[in-house]
Amino acid sequence: MSTVLDTTRTQAFAEQALGIVNGGFLSLMLSVGHRTGLLDTLATLEPATSDRIAAAAGLNERYVREWLGAMVTGRIIEYDPATRTYWLPREHAASLTRAAGPDNLAELAQIVAMLGQVEGAIVDVFRKGGGVDYRAFERFHALMAESSHTTLEATLLTRTLPLVPGLVDRLDAGVDVLDMGCGEGVAIRMMAQRFPRSRFVGVDIAAEAIATARAEAEAANLTNAQFLAQDAATFSTPAAFDFITAFDAIHDQAAPRRVLRAIHEALRPDGVFLMVDIAASSRLEGNLDNPLAPFLFTVSTMHCMTVSLAQGGEGLGACWGEEKARELLAESGFTVVDVSRVDGDPLNAYYVCRP
Ligand SMILES: C[S@@+](CC[C@H](N)C(=O)[O-])C[C@H]1O[C@@H](n2cnc3c(N)ncnc32)[C@H](O)[C@@H]1O
Repeated sequence: MSTVLDTTRTQAFAEQALGIVNGGFLSLMLSVGHRTGLLDTLATLEPATSDRIAAAAGLNERYVREWLGAMVTGRIIEYDPATRTYWLPREHAASLTRAAGPDNLAELAQIVAMLGQVEGAIVDVFRKGGGVDYRAFERFHALMAESSHTTLEATLLTRTLPLVPGLVDRLDAGVDVLDMGCGEGVAIRMMAQRFPRSRFVGVDIAAEAIATARAEAEAANLTNAQFLAQDAATFSTPAAFDFITAFDAIHDQAAPRRVLRAIHEALRPDGVFLMVDIAASSRLEGNLDNPLAPFLFTVSTMHCMTVSLAQGGEGLGACWGEEKARELLAESGFTVVDVSRVDGDPLNAYYVCRP
């Protein structure tokens, strides 16, 4: 490390740091824009005044105008001072609206606000160790379900299930399926609807998420889906399932090895385990070119790792990476047949495993 201060580098980094801080604030504004529907409304309007935008979105004009100030100076929304009109360029809408599906980064921005709520508790555990419990994260299950729905709608039936040769035919014929760490049950609902002859079980430790999963399955008249509020580490139903999935539900487990062993035990001999988990390298330097890495390490520090440590768990972290994942899968008795990526899901790697 050089001891001479490079003033050009100092200046360049100061600008980078300012961009980072401004980006953090703008993330909060994007989150508000997503939750209030402002970004979606703007995408449907011609250049419009703040009065017109507020009326179209059914919101308070004074707040909308201040929010527009952040959006215009942040170069997200354009403004014509002569007519006092604002518009969202179509090229920007392609990354910021519900119509953009899995490309909607405003949906992701909500996580910044969620993590902000636990910052005090996180600072505390930096000092004294331990973790912050799942229950501290207001809106976690709702946010997770929203983002899973967006991704799964674009990927699950058309791109993900076909990763396993013959699986769609087996699901059509009727098999037993388990989704471990199912949250509010989005994946189960989609599969149970599409494959009425198969039987689906969702397991999650969070009673409130399971209650929502049950209510939504009932509302959709799904008689082939059931949900259990249970700790995955103590799940013991030997050779009962033909297909088991875990969507982003292994890396934040307290006891991931026990959960993988429980999944292995629950599979029938010709069964398949599809583990969908964060695409990362177990070596820090292997993540430098991943544009999502700062996001992933932040979410891990303030959620995935800490919820595991809060239970005295292993605290693998979101970026446990492919090398470590393969190690744990092998240790639990799995053969990893394939690891691939799915278009429409930039976050995850898809591990197809046989017992
Ligand atoms: C990141 S979320 C993923 C949820 C869902 N699979 C999805 O993709 O939307 C991880 C889920 O694992 C659940 N979970 C954590 N520890 C668990 C355990 N020991 N047993 C069962 N579920 C657990 C959490 O409650 C949470 O719903």
